[in-house]
Formats: sequence, structure tokens, C-alpha cells
Amino acid sequence: MPDVLALACEPISCVRIAFIGLGKRGKESIHHFMHMQGVVITAVCDLNEENLHFARCLLASHGKALPCEYRRADDWREVCRREDIDLVYVCTNRECHTEIALYAMAQGKHVALEVPAANTVAECWALVDAAEATRRHCMMLENCCYDWFELTVLHMIRQGVLGEVFHVEGSYVHDLRHLNFDERLSYHRLWQMEGNPYPTHGLGPVCQALGIHRGDRMAWLTSVSGGQFNYPTLSQPLPPEAFTLGNINTTIIKTARNKTILLQHDISSPRPYTRRYLISATEGFAQKGAPHVLTLAAQPDATTDELLKHYEPPLAKEVGELARRVGTHGGMDFMMDYRLIYCLQHGLPLDMDVYDAAEWSCIIELSARSVASGSQPVEIPDFTRGRWQKLQPVHR
Ligand SMILES: NC(=O)c1ccc[n+]([C@@H]2O[C@H](COP(=O)([O-])OP(=O)(O)OC[C@H]3O[C@@H](n4cnc5c(N)ncnc54)[C@H](O)[C@@H]3O)[C@@H](O)[C@H]2O)c1
Repeated sequence: MPDVLALACEPISCVRIAFIGLGKRGKESIHHFMHMQGVVITAVCDLNEENLHFARCLLASHGKALPCEYRRADDWREVCRREDIDLVYVCTNRECHTEIALYAMAQGKHVALEVPAANTVAECWALVDAAEATRRHCMMLENCCYDWFELTVLHMIRQGVLGEVFHVEGSYVHDLRHLNFDERLSYHRLWQMEGNPYPTHGLGPVCQALGIHRGDRMAWLTSVSGGQFNYPTLSQPLPPEAFTLGNINTTIIKTARNKTILLQHDISSPRPYTRRYLISATEGFAQKGAPHVLTLAAQPDATTDELLKHYEPPLAKEVGELARRVGTHGGMDFMMDYRLIYCLQHGLPLDMDVYDAAEWSCIIELSARSVASGSQPVEIPDFTRGRWQKLQPVHR
């Protein structure tokens, strides 16, 4: 099967979108499209009447045509079959992302999927196979690749000013103990999983920095989970089977070109929110934080702020202000959606392709396998089937 590396499809002057899932994430995202030209929300689908009502009111308040509404559990199939849709935007619980994406692509639609795109290695392969067979885009909505600092550092890497990146670190640390391990809430089933059940926020931006499947590939990992302590702060006593996830998971990944990735996940300890992003390179160093740190060997006197300003990427210059004003998560979510629509409208390859979705999502199963085997190394599949050196990094 021919690959879909750098897949370019026919430009779509007006992108017609169907939203499936209008919970927390769906509501945040649909809002962005009210501020873009050449976009129509054709259909919305959710099990919850209040969420449909929200979408209806939002579109009406922006003077947009009202979308067709769908409310039954399997209505998403009918939505995907509609002829007046170009992009299916999936914000349901993670359990059904892959199933919906496969069906949507089979109906000739492009898909954008909330994170994670898939829960198992088999699902990852199914997404790759379907994208290759249908020649449709399948993008995972990894918004953390679009935060200002990450975008700027990536821009610098792609301009060559940081030299060669040889080690990176990423994490998702979010104290979610207040959710009381409740499976009915967001963050579905995370507590019952092992390994790193939510790797993509930490992994996506650092994989882009390393040029994964754009000259390098993740070869193998080893993973360790620790802790399972009682939580005196919980409002209800915790049944023993309530969670199998340890307090913290640490995964180390080695690439084919001898680079290293350190990835962490922690959602159950009293630790400040951190999405770690650390880049060690031969000519400089970058670390997201408060404050950020950015150094360049070639400009030892330049401050972090001066470097950030000097290397601001074109996307942030173009829509950064609007993104900060209307976008969630400080604006990065808007920048991602804006860029997705821009690429579809101009017939460009997307910044994140189906191989990214598979590579970043497969760590869920592989880290769990390593933990279960006493941290034995586990091979990471090459979803490009040997073509990981064909592409150069994307410029944006
Ligand atoms: N990128 C991020 O920053 C970020 C943050 C939080 C969550 N997420 C991801 O986003 C996804 C959604 O999370 P959320 O917090 O919005 O969850 P949520 O529970 O608030 O929303 C999920 C919605 O999907 C709907 N749904 C479920 N099954 C459906 C079906 N068969 N047909 C139509 N609608 C259906 C539900 O009614 C609900 O409204 C998850 O996969 C999660 O991992 C991403």
C-alpha cells in the first residue's frame, strides 16, 4: 500500500465539519470555528440534549446556519455517511475514537481525533491502514504541539540554530485527585490502566523536535510505574480495585538514531501541573516552565525573552493575538484548529499525520506491557513500514 507521508488532498475552499462529541472538549473546540472564514458546521452529534442545545445557541449567537442534530449512540454512522461533510471532528470518550475514525475514512471523510487517537497497537495499525487505503487525512488533535514555547523552539530547531537535538523530556502531570477516581467523569478509565495511559501531550511536541518519522524513529522503550498510596484527602473511601495505575509512570524511549526521550505521567499526587518540555541540543537548550529557559551557544548574552521574540514562528505572528483572545488553553487549541483548516483549504499536508497519531498513541499499550514484564524493553512498531527517512521536517 502506498504511504500517506506528506499527503496532500484537493483544496477545500469551505470546510464542512461534523462534530461528534460535544462534552468539555467538543464545546471548547466548536467555539474556535466561529472565528474562522471558510468553515461551516454542518452537523453535531452528542448523547446529551444540553450539549446539542449549547451548539445550537452558539451557532445562532454568531449568526451561523443551524446544524443538523443527532442524538442516538450510533447516529455518528449516519453523520459520517452525509455527502455534505469534509471533516469529522471527534471529541467523544477515548474508547470510540478509532472506530469512528475508521468508519469516517471509509466514507471518504477526513478525520480529526481528540487524544489519544487509539488505545491499542492494533487500533494504531488500523488507523494507518485505513488512511493509506482511503488516502484521507487522519490527524490527532495534539494541542500541546501548538503552545507558543514549543512552536518557537521547533521553529528554531528547523532553522538549525539549536544544532542537533540529542535528548528530550516530556510529561503530563495534573493533580486530578479531586475527581475521586470517578469513571463517569472526563479522563475516562485512566485509573484502571497501567503504564502511561495518556502519553501524547508530553510526547507529541518532543517527537516533533526529534523529527520522528522525519529522519528518525522511536525504536524501543522501557517503562516503570511506582507507588499506589492511600489518599487521605479523598472525599469517599476508595475501594481496593478503584485504581491500578501507580502514582507515577516513567518511560524511557530510545530512537534509531541514538537519541533519548524521558516521558512521565502523574495524575494522582499533590504536584503542580506540569507539561514538561525539555530539549537538549548541541548548540542550545530549552526548558518550558515558570520561567522558560532558552539558551543558544552562539548568542550567550541573549536572554530567553529576546530569543523567544526573535524566533517567533509565522503561525504565532499571524494568529497569536486572536488565539489568545478566543482560544482555550491559552490559545494553543485555536492555533491547532486554525492550522488544520488552513492546510485543508490550501491542499497542504497536515502538520500531524496518521503516523504521528499511531506513534504517540501506541505508547499506552507498550508502556503497560513493559511495566507488566518488570520493565523489559519493548520494541516500538515502525508504522511507516521502513519509510521514516523519506520526509524532511515540516516547516510552518
Ligand atoms: N487535548 C486536550 O487538552 C484534552 C483535554 C481533556 C480531554 N481530552 C480528550 O478529549 C476527549 C473528550 O474528553 P472530554 O473531557 O470532552 O469528555 P466529556 O465526557 O466531557 O465529553 C465526551 C462527550 O462525548 C459524547 N459521546 C459519547 N459517546 C458518544 C456517541 N456514541 N455519540 C455521540 N456522542 C458521544 C458524550 O455525550 C460527551 O458529551 C477524550 O478522549 C479525552 O482524552 C483532551
